[in-house]
Amino acid sequence: MASRTSRDVLGRGLAVLGVAIREQPRIFAVAVTGSVLFGAMTVASAYVVGAVVGDVVVPAIERGSVGVGALALAAVALFGISVLRVAGIFGRRLGAGYMQYRLQAAYRRRVTRRYLELPLSWHHRNATGTLLSNANSDVEAAWHPIAPLPFAVGTLVMLVGAVASLFATDWALALVGLAVFPALFALNVAYSRRMAPRQARAQRLRAEVSGIAHESFDGALVVKTMGREAQETDRFAARAGELRDALVSVGRLRGVFDPVLETLPSLGTLAVLVVGTFRLRQGAISVAELVSVAFLFTVLAFPVRAIGWVLAELPRSVAGWDRVRRVLDATGEMPYGDTTLDPADPRPATLAFAGVRFGYEPAEAHLPGTEVLGEVSFTVPAGKTVALVGPTGAGKSTVASLAVRLVDPRAGTVALDGVDVRRLTAASLARTAALVAQVPFVFDDTVRANITLDRPGIGDDDVWAALRLAEADGFVAALPDGLDTKVGERGTSLSGGQRQRLTLARALAGRPRLLVLDDATSAVDPRVEAAILAGLRSSAGEPGAPAASILVVAYRRATIALADEVVYLEQGRVVARGTHAELLATVPGYADLVTAYEQAEVDHAKDETYDEVAPLSSGLEIEVDR
Ligand SMILES: Nc1ncnc2c1ncn2[C@@H]1O[C@H](COP(=O)(O)OP(=O)(O)OP(=O)(O)O)[C@@H](O)[C@H]1O
Ligand SMILES: [Mg+2]
Repeated sequence: MASRTSRDVLGRGLAVLGVAIREQPRIFAVAVTGSVLFGAMTVASAYVVGAVVGDVVVPAIERGSVGVGALALAAVALFGISVLRVAGIFGRRLGAGYMQYRLQAAYRRRVTRRYLELPLSWHHRNATGTLLSNANSDVEAAWHPIAPLPFAVGTLVMLVGAVASLFATDWALALVGLAVFPALFALNVAYSRRMAPRQARAQRLRAEVSGIAHESFDGALVVKTMGREAQETDRFAARAGELRDALVSVGRLRGVFDPVLETLPSLGTLAVLVVGTFRLRQGAISVAELVSVAFLFTVLAFPVRAIGWVLAELPRSVAGWDRVRRVLDATGEMPYGDTTLDPADPRPATLAFAGVRFGYEPAEAHLPGTEVLGEVSFTVPAGKTVALVGPTGAGKSTVASLAVRLVDPRAGTVALDGVDVRRLTAASLARTAALVAQVPFVFDDTVRANITLDRPGIGDDDVWAALRLAEADGFVAALPDGLDTKVGERGTSLSGGQRQRLTLARALAGRPRLLVLDDATSAVDPRVEAAILAGLRSSAGEPGAPAASILVVAYRRATIALADEVVYLEQGRVVARGTHAELLATVPGYADLVTAYEQAEVDHAKDETYDEVAPLSSGLEIEVDR
């Protein structure tokens, strides 16, 4: 079983190398040419050394005088061979390095690009740490054997040349070669087979260690506040320990095989000297030939190791490649259509949900997925504001993701200006509708870069206009470098409410025609939240301001009251629609929810801790009163 899988690994490893060669054929040809040149010159050097011994040294010993002409010739020949060998090494190293790093860069790009293409549902099922390790250490592992590959290929050519020249010299010495070289090769193969499972295990553990590290840094706040430092450190240490053990076992195997691989060619040289002396005495070969062959065995010992390096790296390469392919071959990306909505259209867009059903895919394929939304229908008419209200877990964020097509419905349609969002191009969709997510994400960059996101046509005036609408101009102006202030990873130097307003300004700067706010101002003081929404509504049509229809997930009475219509969601279904006043009067659940939230707000306001703690708050209190 084990040997079958390792043979498998060998075959698949060679297939991975085939992919590399097909992707970079020219560079590979350069590297192999360099390597073959090196190999040919190595064999040639053995024969020149033999000739020097036979034609210069031996006669010198016998006659006591040195043939100057022969010596000069030999020196020139050895010098020429050395120059060519250097050229060969240069070509090989340069080609191999170039090939390896180019492939690594290309595949890093492909993997990260794929991450961005894959749908949110795929990301829900894959841990961030694993993704980091895929793009980094797996890609690196996959192309690791590329570095010694041209050397190994050149060595194979050289070995064939060596054995042929051995046969041309003497059959008995050739037999010694035929015994030693295949033995070296077999030993290398055995080595890589034993290495396979160890390397695969180490590669998997590398990903897990990176995953745990990522999670504990990411959750540093929770770890610290809950006093989990020790446990987190232990959890990390345990996995890091496993990785250490796996790598030590790799090293131990190397420790056993390396000396044997070193020794075998020396034994070969010894055998050549013993057999060669007999043959010399029989008059079958000359001194020059014996010296050539003995020297050949010595110089071949090192290049033969290159084959071992490639074979030893193959298992890790296959393990890395499999993990990279899993990403590249993952399917489910959302194909975009080719319809565009007029980008110059200044009017707000209409959003319509018709009979939309949705369920998240289960974490594992065999588990049943539960339905999160069932038959949701409502419209946000052009220029109107619709508030989406509902208890925690009702599906509000899910509706928001569907509105900007982060996910597609199982049934029913989501349409913008009457066009099914699945028929729109990615660019048109991004221009038309903007989502401000429940959890704000801020890049480790300047305020300006966070707002423009390199989108063309957004000047500083537009940035300030967006900041004003988001009620963020005040705090940004007060920052030490204004728009040029760096905000730290994930905006760590900002408060929760500041982060929220920054992401709101980012959405506004793109002048969307539909704005979807998923609880986007929950960490902002209630008065400011209402002011923002009122500003967004009244500014429609003003120069520099977005003329947007608004779908807003909200809890606060003051905010909800600004909406033209309220859609009340419970357990994935639209329970009621109407104005705030109508729903308060007719829907008991709605009244309870809004009142409960208001009570919680009053308690909160007493603490005056809005900006800091509110992001965690919105759902919690309501759950209690459901
Ligand atoms: N990525 C996911 N995978 C599986 N189920 C999910 C996922 N995200 C949300 N859900 C489930 O879908 C349901 C609706 O979630 P959603 O986030 O839309 O609720 P919500 O109304 O926005 O709640 P909240 O007020 O707490 O933000 C919940 O039952 C939740 O458990
Ligand atoms: Mg939500």
